[in-house]
Amino acid sequence: MEKIKIESFLDVYSSKDELPETISSLMDAAFAARERAYAPYSNFLVGAALLLDNGEIVTGNNQENACYPAGLCAERTAIFYASSQYPDAKMLTMAITARARDKETTDPIPPCGVCRQAIAEYEIKQEAPIELYFMGEKGKVVKSASLENILPLLFTSKYL
Ligand code: THU
Repeated sequence: MEKIKIESFLDVYSSKDELPETISSLMDAAFAARERAYAPYSNFLVGAALLLDNGEIVTGNNQENACYPAGLCAERTAIFYASSQYPDAKMLTMAITARARDKETTDPIPPCGVCRQAIAEYEIKQEAPIELYFMGEKGKVVKSASLENILPLLFTSKYL
């Protein structure tokens, strides 16, 4: 028996104001998308904005359903739309923000495990990392330079 250690490094910005200009405006697009979320059941609004190498910014937000599992997270809404519209464009950076309707959300909100797996698929496809920046409605912003950092032991097609 041996033990393996999995380590990853993330950058933490003290607030959105500390972000580089392009990232801050990408986060603004995620904020705007968040406010258009359809989240009548959880009252938890999530917005994602994805910058492509063709200059396009594609946004998405969570879309809920009375049959709960039929809903979709903001990140997958954005990334599937991007891949469906611009299949040859590389995905550079995704900004994510979330807030609850009934309380202040200051924790940086990371993408759920399913979204990490979905985003990682495109990292592998394009053979280049996708940067992620995620935050609540205010407060710290976390940067992950690649999905690998936040999804160790990723399941990939090499196992199929
Ligand atoms: N949600 C997202 O949009 N992204 C995530 O990564 C986590 C969760 C949504 C799904 C659901 O509409 C609501 O947040 C509460 O789980």
